[in-house]
Amino acid sequence: MIQKKPPEEFRLIYKNVDVDGYTIDIDCYRKHDGYKILEKAIKEKPEDLRQEVLNSGVRGRGGAGFPTGMKWKFVDRKSGKPIYVVCNADESEPGTYKDRQIIYKDPHQLIEGIMISAFANNAAQAFIYIRGEFINGARILERAIDEARKAGFVGKNICGSEYSCEIAICRGAGAYICGEETGLIESLEGKRGYPRIKPPYFPAVLGLYQCPTIVNNVETFCHVKHVIDRGGEEYAKIGIKGDSGTHIWGVSGHVQRPGYYELEAGSCTFGDLLYGLCGGPLPGRKFKALIPGGSSTKILRFGERFEGKLPDGTPFDWAVEDIPLDANSIGLCGTFLGTGGSIVMDDSTDMLEALANLNAFYGHESCGQCTPCREGSLWLQKMTGRMCSGSAREEDVPLLKDIADQVAGRTICAHGEAVAWPVQSAVPKFKDEYLEKIKNQASGQRFNPAGYPL
Ligand code: NAI
Ligand code: SF4
Repeated sequence: MIQKKPPEEFRLIYKNVDVDGYTIDIDCYRKHDGYKILEKAIKEKPEDLRQEVLNSGVRGRGGAGFPTGMKWKFVDRKSGKPIYVVCNADESEPGTYKDRQIIYKDPHQLIEGIMISAFANNAAQAFIYIRGEFINGARILERAIDEARKAGFVGKNICGSEYSCEIAICRGAGAYICGEETGLIESLEGKRGYPRIKPPYFPAVLGLYQCPTIVNNVETFCHVKHVIDRGGEEYAKIGIKGDSGTHIWGVSGHVQRPGYYELEAGSCTFGDLLYGLCGGPLPGRKFKALIPGGSSTKILRFGERFEGKLPDGTPFDWAVEDIPLDANSIGLCGTFLGTGGSIVMDDSTDMLEALANLNAFYGHESCGQCTPCREGSLWLQKMTGRMCSGSAREEDVPLLKDIADQVAGRTICAHGEAVAWPVQSAVPKFKDEYLEKIKNQASGQRFNPAGYPL
């Protein structure tokens, strides 16, 4: 059994989360220097703040990892239309539970980050689109916005300045696809949450009500606060070149200590996280598979190796345990950092059932707007259901991958990739296990032939 010394956590965003005596009240937040950075920012020029965010290199924490300063640079500031700032709090990615800790345990940090970002972008109005299931989260945020408004940090003449901006909360209604930024915008406009085609027009140019709109994730707004506090260049010293700051790893599944851990980007490896902080596998078990950053990232198999060259030309040859925890290194292994929601599976896991479970989820959540995703996701769901219920053929295994290959890259939004990636990554890595199950007609009987969990 591998023994690892736990790495040091670097708590930037979660500094106050779960700290004894820390409450969600504004008085407590202000006692911990809350809203001081907004007071400082409001005296600066918006363009200088945007430059700090660009200098920091901070990347979006919603899953795609797009550089925030660059996204803000794309905003059409010449159109004469109002600019909107939207906080994507529709956290629904399976395995992901980092944003809700901020909403439930440190809501004022988010509000301060949104107001700094709104001011930096001369926004007229901000919105928080919150996942429908976070009923108490919406209540907590409403109360926190009220408190912030009374204290002069939201609404008219923020911190006594000329700048005014409101925050409105909009609750989702349970559709995963409304977390996709253009589906979210449609939903905010009161329409069905059908994602829009992009490019050519990204929300930064034509977003909410066809006005320039910035959509950032909850955690990203909190990072902006820390960027402005430290200054872009100082912030960029945390983490590595190309992936600055910290990442929150929300580990779930077969480890001894599941939970969330905030680590400096690139400071340690998956081995340090899973064996050190998370205590390793459950007694008598071995790790088998890892979904590194939310279910929309490609599955890794313990025992496989990743070889190649780092950007500076240095060769690398890593096992899963050796992969450094930063977006660049994880990308070199053919998968993504995503949301940092790591799902760990040990050798007790039936990888066919695990795939059937993912397929059932993506089939259910397809909005149905485009054919490859609508039909492909349901075919995949039915096929893995058939395999689990003991009525599949050996040819179904390569066929699964064929179908997934026809979905990826042919759809309006990234849900098409999310449908395809688990299959495209799992089939080559666990093919023998799938064939074995089909041959023995062995079945967990937890999925019916239509692919629905029983
Ligand atoms: P994307 O790569 O298409 O876009 C990322 C961001 O960059 C968007 O805000 C987009 O507007 C902006 N952008 C990209 N190119 C641009 C350009 N040329 N001009 C202006 N703006 C530009 O990725 P997408 O579809 O927004 O997100 C997919 C990711 O979301 C997946 O990788 C997945 O990990 C993650 N995800 C997260 C969930 C959660 O609960 N947090 C749920 C589901 C997926
Ligand atoms: Fe809807 Fe899927 Fe097409 Fe996205 S890819 S628009 S979820 S059908």
